Amino acid sequence: MTTSQRFCLLTGATSGIGQAAALSLAQQGYELFLVARSEAKASATSALITSKVPGAKITWLIGDLAKLDDVRAIAKAFLSEGKSIDLLWLNAGLCFNKRVLTTDGYEMMLGVNHLAPFLLTDLLFETLCEGRNKTRVVVTASGAYRAVKALNLDDMNYESEFKTFNAYGNSKLANIMFTKVLPQKLKHAAPDKTFTINCFHPGFVGTGIGTQIWLGKVLMAALRPFIRSSAKGAETGLFLATDPSVEGKCGGYYYNCEEEELLPHARDAAAAETLWAKSMAMVS
Ligand SMILES: NC(=O)c1ccc[n+]([C@@H]2O[C@H](COP(=O)([O-])OP(=O)(O)OC[C@H]3O[C@@H](n4cnc5c(N)ncnc54)[C@H](OP(=O)(O)O)[C@@H]3O)[C@@H](O)[C@H]2O)c1
Repeated sequence: MTTSQRFCLLTGATSGIGQAAALSLAQQGYELFLVARSEAKASATSALITSKVPGAKITWLIGDLAKLDDVRAIAKAFLSEGKSIDLLWLNAGLCFNKRVLTTDGYEMMLGVNHLAPFLLTDLLFETLCEGRNKTRVVVTASGAYRAVKALNLDDMNYESEFKTFNAYGNSKLANIMFTKVLPQKLKHAAPDKTFTINCFHPGFVGTGIGTQIWLGKVLMAALRPFIRSSAKGAETGLFLATDPSVEGKCGGYYYNCEEEELLPHARDAAAAETLWAKSMAMVS
């Protein structure tokens, strides 16, 4: 290991935005720790990356983010490597058209899109505080946070009334609020470190997400000329991961490499704190 080696842990690297990001980060010399639930997709992604970046260093952490025990195993496997984290990119996500539960009994989008990255970050908290002097966290959020008018804290599990876009939007709003509270926790624990922690909206990207929903298919077909490639969708995340101009900035929501003002409900600091406490209880 050279002292200049940079380590990145990225979830959802087997397709779409995450795969494009992994390729770009490999091209920039990062050693990659990639989370995937499918060995076959992991190996296909490795083949793709190494065909373009011979010698790319990739370690797969296999686990299903819909199972909190798998999240714990992923964190344990990473920690056993004894590496620091220069970049943690929480990207994996999904959109379901019906209310399906995770192994732990949580609504699937809440579980995979929010609780899994929340728990993973909590388990890596000490490593994020230690290690190098500078650490970045990037969260792939979404403009879909606008689908809800406020964070649904009363029925986070969508037991009373399930609507796909509300549940998805709520999980993406949770991503945004998580990005606002995490810097406070990390800066409190490691005041001498420089953290750069932000989230972004990738735009409307032609990936597999949402295509099992009829409206998703219709939108993909109707908007095909305007749909972004995965590489384009990853651009703002890569900007937040690497660009010197954002170093030290935290809690921002970016689109097209520029910070955007969030709607008031996404800036609700009290809701964000309550979300943090509730999430901690749910993963404990
Ligand atoms: N596409 C868009 O227009 C758009 C817009 C706004 C935000 N986003 C966000 O962008 C992120 C990436 O999505 P994408 O559009 O690139 O979709 P995608 O191509 O479907 O990629 C999603 C990634 O997440 C992984 N994943 C999903 N469920 C998982 C689970 N239970 N355990 C482990 N990994 C899991 C997938 O693994 P598999 O390959 O095994 O399925 C895949 O690698 C998501 O957070 C999404 O909310 C996308």
